Amino acid sequence: MHKNTKEMTELILKAKEKAIKETSHEPEPEFTKPISWPITCTVGPGLEGAIACETKIGYVNGAKGWLIYRGYNIFDLCAYSTFEEVAFLLLHGELPTLSQLNVFKKKLVQYGHIPLTKRRLMSFPVERMNAMAALRLGTTFMRQEFTDVESQEYINDTVKIISADEDSIPMETKPMGEKHAIYEFDEKKLLEMKIRDNLQHATGIESCHHLVAGVSSLVAAIARIKVGRLPIEPHPDLSFASNFIYMMTGKVPSPIEERIMDISLILHADHGMNASTFASMVVASTLSDIYLSVGAGIAALQGPLHGGANEAVIAMLKEIGSVENTKTWFEKACAKKQKIMGFGHRVYKAYDPRARVLAPLAKYMSRKNDEGKKLFKIAEQLEKEVLRTLGKEKKIFPNVDFYSGIVYTCLGIDSEFFTPIFAASRVSGWTARVQEYLLNNRIFRPRAMYLGQFDKGYISVKNR
Ligand code: CMC
Repeated sequence: MHKNTKEMTELILKAKEKAIKETSHEPEPEFTKPISWPITCTVGPGLEGAIACETKIGYVNGAKGWLIYRGYNIFDLCAYSTFEEVAFLLLHGELPTLSQLNVFKKKLVQYGHIPLTKRRLMSFPVERMNAMAALRLGTTFMRQEFTDVESQEYINDTVKIISADEDSIPMETKPMGEKHAIYEFDEKKLLEMKIRDNLQHATGIESCHHLVAGVSSLVAAIARIKVGRLPIEPHPDLSFASNFIYMMTGKVPSPIEERIMDISLILHADHGMNASTFASMVVASTLSDIYLSVGAGIAALQGPLHGGANEAVIAMLKEIGSVENTKTWFEKACAKKQKIMGFGHRVYKAYDPRARVLAPLAKYMSRKNDEGKKLFKIAEQLEKEVLRTLGKEKKIFPNVDFYSGIVYTCLGIDSEFFTPIFAASRVSGWTARVQEYLLNNRIFRPRAMYLGQFDKGYISVKNR
């Protein structure tokens, strides 16, 4: 299945072996039994320990450092699977058969064509927008395509034709080696594929597929617009990971580059009731649609305490500047009670299995990349400092965001796109969990303890 990437698979299997040796993966009984509502649980600030729902999608064993998607451990999925398989697994509950996989892959390429969305996006100053804000806007436009379809049912054919013409977007069809960009209008292709006919409801499984494909197209389009280039359409012969890099950079990646992106996408696809997943679910629980739910997920993911940490890690490593300066920098940071980016986790009180995979792969990727190598060496030193101190005292270990940025740096991707890449993968987890929750939906509606005053008399504005 994977070409010329045996060494990478071996590194993953070695990480798995180490994890088995250092931990065990027995499930925690308190987080793996059916719920009979109402339940009693001890809740800390930030809803720590609160149980919000039942799920069959994924399990994080924080005490031992294990991550499971639908029964499969993350090491095996990284070693043997692909992102397409994993997204299908999360959304449909089982790994696909060969024919299901082929249909799904084809669909992801088809749904990666979002010309109207891209055209709308390009009418905004995307080059000056935060990439995650642009991405969120883009998913709203993807929803808007529905609104158009829905409203077009009520208008006459002439208007439809005009509207269809608007759906075209100039595409740079041959981005490599051409002196001048070559454009094509893509509406014909889109009509041939009858994509619109499938997307009838903005909540159904087809919308989930549309989003899984569309978010990566959007991320890539934003990356290109930001460097003054036109978006590229997905190529039908490329895998999801390969297409993602191709649409971002205009170059078909090498098997190693494709494989590392694939592994990274697998690692980020789902992770329990994290803040962005919960945000998506809260929005969906109001019976809002899945596009707006994903928009909420993107918004929550952006923060540096969550997905934004991967970008912050690279800024931190650059600030440290050298292996020699690492200890002094770390001691100063601790003295200021500064959080070390890419470390710590609400659930993991053991080594994050995703970091176990990414650390050796970051080393592997950085061996031929000067910038990556420098960052990796500083990261390695910082990890030693943190484990020696915070690791022992507070069970703080590297998380998924600590090494991912080094991997992306080695792929030549700008740090502004690290969190959007995270989103391109996590959209599979968001949509899977939203779909599952909606089967037994109840609107999320916790309460707050009121500590304000009572019985204040109203004073008119002129007397205040
Ligand atoms: N550096 C230094 N100290 C830390 C760190 C860190 N990165 N993380 C936690 N601590 C300390 C914290 O100061 C506190 O100490 P004390 O009990 O003495 O006050 C203790 O550990 C517990 O921390 P907390 O902030 O209460 O933990 P939390 O569960 O509320 O927060 C976290 C989890 C991930 C937000 C936090 O560890 C953090 O801010 N890490 C840095 C940002 C980061 O890497 N985020 C990515 C998270 S994983 C992937 C993702 O979601 O994207």
